[in-house]
Amino acid sequence: MSSSTDGAPAARAPEREQWSGQVGFLFAAIGSAIGLGNIWRFPGVAYSNGGGAFMIPYIIALLFVGIPVLFLDYSLGHRLRGSAPAVFRRLSRRFEWLGWWQVFICFVIMTYYAVVVAWSLSYTVFSVTLAWGDDAAGFFSNYVGTDRFGDAAPSFSIAPMTGVIIPLVIVWAFGIVTISRGVSNGVEKANRIFLPLLVVMFLALVVRSILLPGATGGLNALFSPDWSSLGDFKVWMAAFAQIFFSLSIGFGIMLTYASYLRPRSNLVGTGLVAAFANSSFEVLAGIGVFSTLGFMAHAQGIAVGEIDKISGPSLAFVTFPTVIAQMPGGTIFGVLFFASFAMAGLTSFISIIQVVVPGVSEKTGMSIPRTTLLVCLPSAALSLLLFGTASGLFDLDIVDAFINNIGVVGSATITCIGVTWVLRRAKPLQRHLNLVSETRAVGAWWRFLIAVVAPLALAYMLFRTVRSYVQDGYEGYSGAMLGAFGWGMLALGAIIVAVLSLTRWRTPVDDFTPIDLDAPLAAAEEEN
Ligand code: ALA
Repeated sequence: MSSSTDGAPAARAPEREQWSGQVGFLFAAIGSAIGLGNIWRFPGVAYSNGGGAFMIPYIIALLFVGIPVLFLDYSLGHRLRGSAPAVFRRLSRRFEWLGWWQVFICFVIMTYYAVVVAWSLSYTVFSVTLAWGDDAAGFFSNYVGTDRFGDAAPSFSIAPMTGVIIPLVIVWAFGIVTISRGVSNGVEKANRIFLPLLVVMFLALVVRSILLPGATGGLNALFSPDWSSLGDFKVWMAAFAQIFFSLSIGFGIMLTYASYLRPRSNLVGTGLVAAFANSSFEVLAGIGVFSTLGFMAHAQGIAVGEIDKISGPSLAFVTFPTVIAQMPGGTIFGVLFFASFAMAGLTSFISIIQVVVPGVSEKTGMSIPRTTLLVCLPSAALSLLLFGTASGLFDLDIVDAFINNIGVVGSATITCIGVTWVLRRAKPLQRHLNLVSETRAVGAWWRFLIAVVAPLALAYMLFRTVRSYVQDGYEGYSGAMLGAFGWGMLALGAIIVAVLSLTRWRTPVDDFTPIDLDAPLAAAEEEN
């Protein structure tokens, strides 16, 4: 049978690409997980949400929701071997839209992610001469063209900032070339080169930072628990959002990556390694960043808590450059820090594009290189128009909060409820995980976590977030800015998703048989 769903003839589905093996996949999965989220978000989020006490919601979110949802993403992608829209359609036609919603989330994230990676590329070069001198805040404001640190009220601007254009073009060119080269020749190779380099450079950086005078003060500030914060829902929300963004789950990435694995693949073992590697790197980044802040506080004779920019982009692009300028060997430290930051970002950036491109390619029947251009060129233009402008930093802040706290959390909630309660597929997926991984480790506990614990926790947080954004707004931004970049962006997404879900598939998406779990897997491997 080779016909599209409405009966018209359709192209034959091309052979699905594969990772070169389990190790290649592991590199890619860890490369995707370790990204800006680990270096840029985690230290600041942990510090401003209870310090040491944050580790409790963080670990709970990881063990009881993050890892179970990671297994869910893996099992869906591996069993139904397709892009997110194809996987959800194969699960049930009623759910195809959820795959497109995940594609939309990735499209949005890649437009701003590219900009932050571009900043870090520029700062790698700026570090060589410590170009920001003794006014890192003024330099950054000037670079991104915004009066972020002055008194001007945030307002929308479309004046593009010329300084960001060249690095942004480099980032997009890297993304386009890598994705066009395919899964094992492009994505896997990039990860095999960048990930080891990143780990070595970042370890050198952390060792250097903990040897700085005052480092212990910084670590005390990060890890001293403020237990009262555990009663605050925002701290829990921050922990869940951090886990989802950081592990690349709930928005199609791990699902798509798992779809390129061979039938016999240790999903369970690989998932655990990827999850713990990611969290270890995150804690390592926290140690590196706070040792460095401890040095800064020590040099200025103040407490770490008195440093005023310890979160968001200003931590990496204002506070860090300030410290780097003060330390002996600052140039090397700066290059190591920003180059690690850029490399971590690039390997995650390609994983985000890898959700959008196969989705569109499988639906339209267009080749991967053509689809990559079709998807990436408009996204690159949006990067520059929306986030590479004088108001880019504000636009980015709002889009990042809304797409993660509402878009991703909503997508994960509906995936869990849809798979378990509506379609009742938890048992076959559990069996799939155990059989392909040759283990019995995934027990009824997993079904309970994805059917009850995860949806309850996620739905509650989604409700609280939406209520708080509706009632109190977000970070004092004007209604017009929130309307455009928050609610408007989500509404536009809903329209795009509806249109994409209703258009015709030009490849035989429904002509598909999942791996037969009752046949020996070696046979399935050969067939593949
Ligand atoms: N997981 C990626 C990150 O942490 C998206 O940045």
